[in-house]
Amino acid sequence: MSLLFSPLTLRELTLRNRAVVAPMCQYSARHGVANDWHLVHLGRFALGGFGLVILEATGVTPEGRISYGDLGLWTDEQVGALKRIVDFLHQEGAAAGIQLAHAGRKASTPVPWRRDFNETEAEKAELAFESWTPIAPSPILQPTSAPGYTTPREMTLADIAATVEAFAAAARRADAAGFDTVEIHGAHGYLINQFLSPIANHRTDAYGGSRDNRMRFALEVARAVRAAWPAGKPLFMRISATDAAEGGWDLDDSIVLVGELTALGVDVIHVSSGGVGAYGMTPAPLYQVPLAEAIRRTGATTIAVGLIDDPRDAENILERGEADMVAFARGALEDPNWAIHAHHVLDGAQYELWPKQARDRIRGKDKLLGLRQG
Ligand SMILES: Cc1cc2nc3c(=O)[nH]c(=O)nc-3n(C[C@H](O)[C@H](O)[C@H](O)COP(=O)(O)O)c2cc1C
Repeated sequence: MSLLFSPLTLRELTLRNRAVVAPMCQYSARHGVANDWHLVHLGRFALGGFGLVILEATGVTPEGRISYGDLGLWTDEQVGALKRIVDFLHQEGAAAGIQLAHAGRKASTPVPWRRDFNETEAEKAELAFESWTPIAPSPILQPTSAPGYTTPREMTLADIAATVEAFAAAARRADAAGFDTVEIHGAHGYLINQFLSPIANHRTDAYGGSRDNRMRFALEVARAVRAAWPAGKPLFMRISATDAAEGGWDLDDSIVLVGELTALGVDVIHVSSGGVGAYGMTPAPLYQVPLAEAIRRTGATTIAVGLIDDPRDAENILERGEADMVAFARGALEDPNWAIHAHHVLDGAQYELWPKQARDRIRGKDKLLGLRQG
C-alpha cells in the first residue's frame, strides 16, 4: 500500500489516508452561515476519497472576514449548518477540519468574481452585503495592484485580547459542530501573518519590534485555541514559512515559531508561503515542498501544499520524508475524485474509496475492460 493511502493517527483522530483538501474560500455564505453550496462543494471531496477536508477560512469575528460572503463562527447560530456538513463528511469516511481565520487588513474586500463593490441595493439585501473598516497591527494599506483593500485601523490592546478570545470561542463552536480538527490561519498575509511580518507590523508595544514581540499574537492565539480545543483532537496551524519579500518574515523565523507552536501543543504545520505583498517566489510544480521539508526537520508534523498534482509526486514527498500529508486545492476542484483516482494509480485495483453506491459497478466495468487490474 502506498504511504499516501495509509492511515495516519494524530492524537485520537485517525485519517483514512494522507490526502487532504486544502481550505478554499467560496464567498457564498450569508451572514457567515453555510448553505447547500458548501454542503455539495465539500461533500464531493468526501465522496472522492480524501482523508481530510478542511473548510475555508472562516471568520472568528464579522470584521475578520475577507468578504461579506465568508463563512463565520462568531455566533452559536452558525454552528448548525456546519454540523450538517461535518455529519455528511463523516458519513462518507472523511475527517472534517475548519480553518479559523481573521483577515486583518485584507478584510472587507469585494467578492472576487465581482471585482468591486458594485452590488445593487436589491443584490445587497439578497447577498447580505456588508463592508467595514478593517483592523490590523498597524494602519498600513496592503500593497497590491488588486482593487478593494482599505487602510486599516490600528488594533488596540483591547482589540488584540478580544481577537485572541474570538479564536478560542470559534474553536469551541467548531467542537460543538463536530469538527475533528481546527486549522489556525497564520498564512497568506492575513492577521496573524501581519503581526509576524516586519513589513506589516510597525508597532512599538509588546506586539511589535523584536521577533519575540511579533510572534506574541500568534502564540497567544495558539495557546488560547489549544486550551479551548479538546485534548484528544489535533490542532493544525497554517503558516507562510516565508513572506519571500525583502525585509519580511523568513524561513529561519518560521523555524523558531514552529518550535514554540509545537511546545504549545500545535500538532501539524500546514506549510505555505507569501501574502503580505511583494512575493519573490515563482510558483511551479512542488515549489513549496522544500519549505515543508525544512519545517519537518524541526521534528514537526507537516502538510506540503502548492501545485502538487501528480499522485507519484505526492507519494515521493511522503516517501522522502519531506512531509507527512499532502494537500490539494485546485487539483481537487479539477477532479473531486482525485484521491480515488490517485489510489488506483499508486495501488492498482483498490475500490474501497469509491462510495458503495458506485463501487461494484466501477469494479465490474474495470474487470470487463481489463483496467487497473495489475
Ligand atoms: C478557490 C481557492 C480558495 C482558496 N481559499 C483559501 C483559504 O480559504 N485559506 C487558505 O489558507 N488558502 C486558500 N487557498 C489556497 C489553497 O489552500 C492552496 O494553498 C493553494 O491553492 C495552493 O495549492 P494548489 O496548487 O493545490 O491549488 C485557496 C485557493 C483556491 C484555489
